[in-house]
Amino acid sequence: MDHPNTIEAEKLVREFKKGPRAVDGIDLHVDAGEIYGFLGPNGAGKSTTVLMLTTLLPPTAGAARVGGYDVVREGPQVRANIGAALQEAALDPLLTGREHLRLQAALQALPREERGPRAAELLDRVGLTEAADRKVRGYSGGMKRRLDLAMALVHRPRILFLDEPTTGLDVQSRTALWDEVGRLAREDGVTVFLTTQYLEEADVLADRVGIIDHGRIVAEGTPDALKAEIGRPTVEVIPLGEDGRGPVAAVLERFGTLVPSSRGIAVRLEGGEAGLAEVVRALDAAGVHVAQLELHSPSLDDVFLAKTGRSLEGHGAE
Ligand SMILES: Nc1ncnc2c1ncn2[C@@H]1O[C@H](COP(=O)(O)OP(=O)(O)OP(=O)(O)O)[C@@H](O)[C@H]1O
Ligand SMILES: [Mg+2]
Repeated sequence: MDHPNTIEAEKLVREFKKGPRAVDGIDLHVDAGEIYGFLGPNGAGKSTTVLMLTTLLPPTAGAARVGGYDVVREGPQVRANIGAALQEAALDPLLTGREHLRLQAALQALPREERGPRAAELLDRVGLTEAADRKVRGYSGGMKRRLDLAMALVHRPRILFLDEPTTGLDVQSRTALWDEVGRLAREDGVTVFLTTQYLEEADVLADRVGIIDHGRIVAEGTPDALKAEIGRPTVEVIPLGEDGRGPVAAVLERFGTLVPSSRGIAVRLEGGEAGLAEVVRALDAAGVHVAQLELHSPSLDDVFLAKTGRSLEGHGAE
């Protein structure tokens, strides 16, 4: 039987006792060699999804196949084919980077003579050669994330799961990690499932993005297609005083569909940017007083806002 490097999930659900439906029926199809970005705010259900796909947490309902194997019935086969760098990296402060990799190589049953060379190769690949023989206690956050990635790669997995690999990293460490992940997918054909709270990370790195909110996928597609779907720029108007909201909404409605806005009232301009001048004139003619008026070109944050009514911005979308 053929075992493709794909990730599939069907109506996957995870409920916690006395907790929320952390994952509320998601469908996924990630192709071989694809980088799939799972984008969502704190508590959206990203880690819970990763834990189910990596066989560390049983689903409450639904099914998933990773690398062609069922995550419930064929756990060992799934684990043999995947690498995972989870959100809570389990590193021992008293071991060195090299010792971690050798230990991981032994756990993955690499032949003894291959462990040293493989450790050295991976340390080099994630830029830790110089720090290799220092205890992890003295590593920075970025160095720990890179070591964690190297450990996930020891057994040359065909499918890689990375749960918020760059959270808390500086810009330099973040781009270095992006480069490495991109190289793994493009050159080695590794399928990558990566979660992130960073719009920019999803935009730059992912071939396709799934936006998750409250355990559900609310939008999915290539970053460009998602933005094109939202397509039109929006105008956001903040009225002067609360009682200006009604009149402003009445005017804006004439120019397109109202979209959620956290600060004021926003409309997607069906006629494109050219409609802006007309909006200003119409507001003026209606005699409403405006505190602020802004034109936004579509970004992944608009996609998020349009689908959830909330903004992800401020979570590090530089
Ligand atoms: N073991 C657990 N027991 C009860 N509730 C849980 C458990 N693990 C997660 N949850 C809840 O499930 C929801 C989803 O959590 P999850 O960790 O999957 O979110 P996340 O998208 O990874 O968030 P973050 O960006 O903060 O890592 C949250 O409401 C969380 O409180
Ligand atoms: Mg998480």
